Amino acid sequence: MKRTYLIYILIISVFYSCSYNSEDDLTEGIVIDMVNYEDNIKTIIDNNCIGCHNNPPVNGAPMSLTTYDGVKEAIENRNLIGRISTNDLASVMPFGGPRLPQNLIDLVVQWEQEGLLEN
Ligand code: HEC
Repeated sequence: MKRTYLIYILIISVFYSCSYNSEDDLTEGIVIDMVNYEDNIKTIIDNNCIGCHNNPPVNGAPMSLTTYDGVKEAIENRNLIGRISTNDLASVMPFGGPRLPQNLIDLVVQWEQEGLLEN
């Protein structure tokens, strides 16, 4: 009897010690009703793009992505979604790769499909 308990405790503790969530994983599997820039998109861009697409842009980046209007314009006219979705390391953004985690790319795609809401 005692041994069974011990085995249970062992199994449970092994489970818990393995369930580490990185920051990027936290939105995985969470379905967001309506994606909007303020709540969902701005953080993705700030964490991954602003290093170059700042205001003013640096490292040869051609435009700033620090505002809603800037990101919206890049989706509509600069193929932003194509550039984050491609598997081609020569053109993927963030520049030079690696690609963003798929759940973050999906959020940007959903945002576009739902009409690029600001908030
Ligand atoms: C290390 C610097 C760097 C980072 C980080 C970076 N970019 Fe870029 N980006 C560039 C450079 C340099 C160019 C211009 C050369 C090119 O188009 O490949 C560019 C071009 C682009 C273009 C095409 C612009 C046009 O008019 O053709 C888009 C869209 C873009 N970036 C989006 C993003 C997004 C979205 C992110 C974050 C997920 C990102 N970039 C992160 C450096 C960067």
